[in-house]
Amino acid sequence: MIIGVPTEIKTEENRVAVTPAGVTAFAARGHKVLLQKGAGLGSGLTDRAYEAAGAIMVESAREVWEKVEMVMKVKEPQESEYPLLRQGLILFTYLHLAANESVTRALLDRKVTAIGYETIQLDDGSLPLLAPMSEIAGRLSIQVGAWSLQAENGGRGILLGGASGVRPAKVVILGAGMSGSAACQVGAGMGAYVSILDINPTKLRYIHDILGGHLTTLMSNRANIEEEVMDADLVIGSVLIPGAQAPKLISRGLVRRMKPGAALVDISIDQGGCVETSRPTTHREPIYIEENVVHYCVTNMPAIVPNTSTYALTNATLSYGLQLANRGFLQALARDKALAKGLNTYNGKIAHEGVANAFNMPWTAAEEIIRS
Ligand SMILES: NC(=O)c1ccc[n+]([C@@H]2O[C@H](COP(=O)([O-])OP(=O)(O)OC[C@H]3O[C@@H](n4cnc5c(N)ncnc54)[C@H](O)[C@@H]3O)[C@@H](O)[C@H]2O)c1
Repeated sequence: MIIGVPTEIKTEENRVAVTPAGVTAFAARGHKVLLQKGAGLGSGLTDRAYEAAGAIMVESAREVWEKVEMVMKVKEPQESEYPLLRQGLILFTYLHLAANESVTRALLDRKVTAIGYETIQLDDGSLPLLAPMSEIAGRLSIQVGAWSLQAENGGRGILLGGASGVRPAKVVILGAGMSGSAACQVGAGMGAYVSILDINPTKLRYIHDILGGHLTTLMSNRANIEEEVMDADLVIGSVLIPGAQAPKLISRGLVRRMKPGAALVDISIDQGGCVETSRPTTHREPIYIEENVVHYCVTNMPAIVPNTSTYALTNATLSYGLQLANRGFLQALARDKALAKGLNTYNGKIAHEGVANAFNMPWTAAEEIIRS
């Protein structure tokens, strides 16, 4: 198979979908990788390193998209990339379609076979291609949350770990999955007072067991959310219902009742966000203030640490990319149930139930598509 890797064009997106080691792995199985010149530079990966690994370097994104059977990317196609989408092309990338009707329509209109990293799901419910980026976003959420709390950014001017004789900040985390538990570890490690809420008691028990007395675990329900959020200096939104829009757990009314200058980092903004007042921001202008609360809602947080993120991402995506290339799309999905859950659109149809529900549109199960 010929695999294409264009340069990412989303604002401040410096990750790249395949490393030189990935090119070597594809080449070892007889595949070719076409890479846009400079695609790896943001992650510190030179064209020379890619060439040495056997990549075919091309000047423009158009050449990549037009000449390949599968495009591997990091972020969803941007509007200027829509004209490059075409029938039968396999697009393997983060999509987050439930929160993005425009991309969904473009993929359907152009009959792209789109497989979303974020909906590939193992039998135990875990999301192997979301996990590495969630871990990074979770760790970053405390870093950017601490920054948002600084006075010059409109925050309460409170240091997460406090000082001798002075209380630490209170961090409230909604969702104890991959990103929430990573935020929890860093927050507790920085000396903040942390409480974390989830609807899944197993997740809470795990965090309670590993971090013990440094934090409070609480069942996520309306009363607990309200009480915790109103008392918080920093709130981290890290909930997920796979493939669907994030549930709105914090209403505008509740934001209004938060402490003035408190900060909110809505990691789940890529699925629409779990706070009513959240709207997507970019790394160029990451924060805004609404109802006296500093909001940080960047949809591609790991992009600011591209060195770490590119390696963490490609460690997870490569084996699935190889399956698609080695077996072809239909065979690969037929043999791997987790990969089949990644199918979001095919030949003008929505293949993921959560995405279809988000737009009130019909869906065709991936199994049906594979069988037909
Ligand atoms: N903004 C970014 O740059 C960025 C980067 C990576 C991941 N994300 C997003 O972060 C979100 C979380 O991802 P994850 O990998 O941590 O997911 P995860 O599945 O590991 O964890 C989500 C948790 O939310 C919990 N949950 C669901 N409904 C809840 C509710 N009502 N109250 C409390 N908890 C609830 C689930 O039980 C689960 O434990 C996703 O939307 C993901 O796409 C964003």
